[in-house]
Amino acid sequence: MADRFFLTTAIDYVNGNPHLGHAYEKILSDAVCRYHRSIGDDVRFLTGVDEHGQKVQQSAQKQNIPPQEFCDTMSSHFRALADSLHISYDQFGRTTESAHKNVVRDFLQRTFDQGDIYFKTYEGFYSTRAEQFVTEKDMVNGEWPEIYGEVVPLKEENYFFKLSKYQDWLRDYVTAHEDFILPTFRRKEVLQALEKPLNDLCISRPKSRLAWGIPLPFNEEYVTYVWYDALVNYYSFAKDASGKSYWPATAHVIGKDIMVPPHAVYWPIMLHAIGEELPKQLIVHGFWMNRGAKMSKSVGNIVDPVPYIEKFGCDALRYFLLREMVVGQDADFWDEKVQQRYQSDLGNDLGNLVNRSLAMIGRYRNGVVPAYDAAKATEQEADLRSDAVITEYRTAMDGVQTHLALQAIWKLVTRANQYVEETAPWKLAKDPAQSGRLDLVLAHLAESVRRLSVLIGAIMPVTAEKIQAQLGLTTPQVQLSEAAFGTSLTGHTVNKPEPLFPRFEEPKK
Ligand code: MSP
Repeated sequence: MADRFFLTTAIDYVNGNPHLGHAYEKILSDAVCRYHRSIGDDVRFLTGVDEHGQKVQQSAQKQNIPPQEFCDTMSSHFRALADSLHISYDQFGRTTESAHKNVVRDFLQRTFDQGDIYFKTYEGFYSTRAEQFVTEKDMVNGEWPEIYGEVVPLKEENYFFKLSKYQDWLRDYVTAHEDFILPTFRRKEVLQALEKPLNDLCISRPKSRLAWGIPLPFNEEYVTYVWYDALVNYYSFAKDASGKSYWPATAHVIGKDIMVPPHAVYWPIMLHAIGEELPKQLIVHGFWMNRGAKMSKSVGNIVDPVPYIEKFGCDALRYFLLREMVVGQDADFWDEKVQQRYQSDLGNDLGNLVNRSLAMIGRYRNGVVPAYDAAKATEQEADLRSDAVITEYRTAMDGVQTHLALQAIWKLVTRANQYVEETAPWKLAKDPAQSGRLDLVLAHLAESVRRLSVLIGAIMPVTAEKIQAQLGLTTPQVQLSEAAFGTSLTGHTVNKPEPLFPRFEEPKK
């Protein structure tokens, strides 16, 4: 039976427009899901948006529209971005859907019934910017850090979840499960956070102050607040349309800013408290910086992915982001680097290989991939015939190291281009005595192009399809097993090549 593989992304706040960080996370997740489908896993891929909260309520008020209308518009931008990036999600979940709201209420009721939620008066400080209670411990040199904005004294009755009760359990769990967090160095941060006593988590807001949320089932005058709503989406959308449940999730893909405390502390405890299984793994990526600087609204340096998709195509952006970022670490976004990788790795390496291979088959063999005598293959063909690339690619993708997966694939691209130079088919074509050798060379090039189209499929799905169309293949090849070296193209007619990554005429200054 196929292994179940349920992957989720963080759900994006809809109070701002989607940006490069959002795009990256969805692309990474998509590549991982496509890879798992390609090895035969039974995949469910969930992404979506986080629609409740004070900021959304305020933004809607400013525009003088109901919050739901505001969410509908904003969510459609996030979904449109996912679609333009060819994100193969099975469900785009929204936290304002009634199915989700019901599950959250049920989740809360179960937790309440067993005594892990209590009511108490809180008296202290409240950060309007971070929308959370803060304590003097959060001050730096006697001042509130900028992230908190205005901090005001506040007295309020609220509901709290007993995080502290489960602190020892969580520490033991994280210690015992080395692969709970990927990359493993981030596990240390979680264990460090668990060295200090945990405060119980405030999970509610009075409706008078925040109406745009999910009412608590045990007191309708309150709504649940932020994490009890957002995190539960993974669980409420775990079933497919037929009702089959994929819970527990195999992996939650998230950015480093929401690992501690929400995903590595609150969420495991919330699940454990009501006896639900925990997700197997958190895949924690780093942050995209804009030319070395943190992207922020106030600085005005947030990168919008759309112009890059429009200029270079979605696959070039996918390639760039997955090639440049080492999952777990931060990476820098530079226009020049995108342009450079587009021209060299994609245009000169992959694009050129496909183009000249097909052009030569067209020119010397009327577009038909020739049969050849395999016994005549030499050392020169060894790398092209080897399946080592598949093993290397698999190891990299199993460890979510997309940069290594692409490096492995590009070794084959580079080798195949060298092979063209070494064997110089244009010279072989001039000598009738070399006709058999030319057959062999052209067939190896066609086969390399085909294998590459399968290998890049998870990362560059559109290009994979285009290459296969140029090869004249009518059934898509997406299973990784199809990347093995073979002779299935023998006698097959290929199409005329078309540039995959056309050069731009830069406007003259
Ligand atoms: N709504 C919460 C997540 C709830 S998950 C149950 C949230 N939303 S967010 O819109 O602020 O961020 C969504 C995801 O984008 C997070 O995983 C976050 O880490 C990621 N990124 C936000 N900025 C980023 C970069 N600059 N670079 C890479 N990813 C970044 O947090």
